[in-house]
Amino acid sequence: MRSPIPEYLDEVLRNCADDRAGAVADYVPELAAADPEQLAVAVSAVDGTVYEAGDSRSAFTIQSISKPFVYALALADRGCEAVLARIGVEPSGEAFNELSLEEGSARPRNPMINVGALTAHTLAGPPGAPREERFERIVAGISAFAGRRLEVDEAVCRSEWGTAHRNLAIAHMLRGYEVIEEDAPRVVADYIRQCSLLVTTRDLALMAATLANGGVQPVTGEQVVSREVVRQVLSVMTTCGMYDAAGDWVTTVGIPAKSGVSGGILGALPGQVGIGVLSPRLDRHGNSVRGVRVCERLSADMGLHLM
Ligand code: DON
Repeated sequence: MRSPIPEYLDEVLRNCADDRAGAVADYVPELAAADPEQLAVAVSAVDGTVYEAGDSRSAFTIQSISKPFVYALALADRGCEAVLARIGVEPSGEAFNELSLEEGSARPRNPMINVGALTAHTLAGPPGAPREERFERIVAGISAFAGRRLEVDEAVCRSEWGTAHRNLAIAHMLRGYEVIEEDAPRVVADYIRQCSLLVTTRDLALMAATLANGGVQPVTGEQVVSREVVRQVLSVMTTCGMYDAAGDWVTTVGIPAKSGVSGGILGALPGQVGIGVLSPRLDRHGNSVRGVRVCERLSADMGLHLM
């Protein structure tokens, strides 16, 4: 018998297709060129069976959704204690690009905001590795979650470099407080490259399913990171993954998640499913408007809420 899930997913998308609230991110010129009508959902079971609807094979830049994965690589490569000494795990209650550090310790508050994500970027790979090697570790690592080799969108990368003043300010602040020890503009350049990796909504579902599956990519069978690393990452996603809307998200959808300015959202329910959604128009928090709606609907219909 054919699964009724594809028709169900089509219906979920149709149901929110007319919602034109929000706006496409425009602080990076190339992102402003995204088709605002794109709408996609993909759901992967922990056995790697993927159900998808809409523009689920269209590529877009991963942006902030790279953050939990690079944090995972940093934890895997340096150990939890060393990473915790550099990056906290508390929600910041501030914008994703705020220039702020914990008072006293000068640690970034968490790895999901830029100040923490730039720091996590420097902690991937072995200590002292050349930046090319570290970047390859990051591309190969994120690709392992997706189960296929991901490529950089050079146009988006160049475009973001032209408007990266805020990230440059953050990186110089990190260098000034000796949280990072490297040349600040180079770290920003590589972080922007990390954010410019191209993924599809289907990729997001499989990356999420890898987290939901205790770190084992369900299709390739590779143990990408350990179960302990996954637990740390999903915990931080739960409290910090949806920025200032974390409270709304946890009460309505109730699963660990991460959003990005391209309009993607990735959600992972341990032991059950990985979810990817895409719709470029964002709300005032920077989360995809229709993406949140799709996830609310899936959570309610499929009983995904953790609580
Ligand atoms: O750091 C930046 O500005 C972007 N490249 C990534 C930001 C992002 O996706 C924030 N998410 N909502």
